[in-house]
Amino acid sequence: MNEHHNPKSMSERADELEEEKMHEMERIITKSTFGYLMDGRVEMDAGAGMMARHPGRYFLMGDDPRLPKMPAKPTLVDYFRRRFASTAHLVQSATHALKDGQPEKVVLACLLHDIAVVSFIRCDHGYWGAQMIEPYVDEEVAWAIKMHQALRFFPDDSVGYGYPELYKKFFGPDYKPEPYILEEYNRARQHKWYMTSRLICVNDIYSFDPNAKVNIDDFVDIIGRNFKQPKEGLGFDNSPSAHMWRTIMWPTRFL
Ligand SMILES: [Fe+2]
Ligand SMILES: [Fe+2]
Repeated sequence: MNEHHNPKSMSERADELEEEKMHEMERIITKSTFGYLMDGRVEMDAGAGMMARHPGRYFLMGDDPRLPKMPAKPTLVDYFRRRFASTAHLVQSATHALKDGQPEKVVLACLLHDIAVVSFIRCDHGYWGAQMIEPYVDEEVAWAIKMHQALRFFPDDSVGYGYPELYKKFFGPDYKPEPYILEEYNRARQHKWYMTSRLICVNDIYSFDPNAKVNIDDFVDIIGRNFKQPKEGLGFDNSPSAHMWRTIMWPTRFL
């Protein structure tokens, strides 16, 4: 007998597995349009269609069971431990700044400079990261993180900062920052806090030692003194960026 199978493509099978996994779960887990855009698709999970495919189930409106559980009143350190995909680069940058004798403000800026990359989004990560922390830190720290987005592309011989070799490898030798980055750099150059942001670049360790022992525990005191941890928990405090923290906590919440 000549059985004729229509072999499923890898992505069809992956979709099926995803679907099966979802059936095992209590709630229907959806992906935001932005998640599809990141896959190169302009799509969305339509409510009615999803309901029809998962009869008798409701949409997820809180904790995603696939992710580490967050405490009821999360702190910045809880996000470091349970939502930041990688913290070695941040802790190493902060350690570098600390050993260099930099003030705590700079150490904190180094510790938080790439939190957007490790928890949220790469594109324009300096801007996103600055917004996330703005309500909780000294204005200068948020400004420095915002501006490192542009500054890291431009050398400053006065502090021994050259264009990163790694960027030549990453973006090609001909990469030129866009005009908005150049304009931001020119603005930052004139600013009284220029050097604070520049110090993020100086302490930005591009090739860190994978064996160096670094731990966020070593920075709990500096965070305690320089980051205004809201008593309601980061995300539940009604600050202008609380929703960003909630989204990182509940990335698959339906609405
Ligand atoms: Fe960065
Ligand atoms: Fe960095």
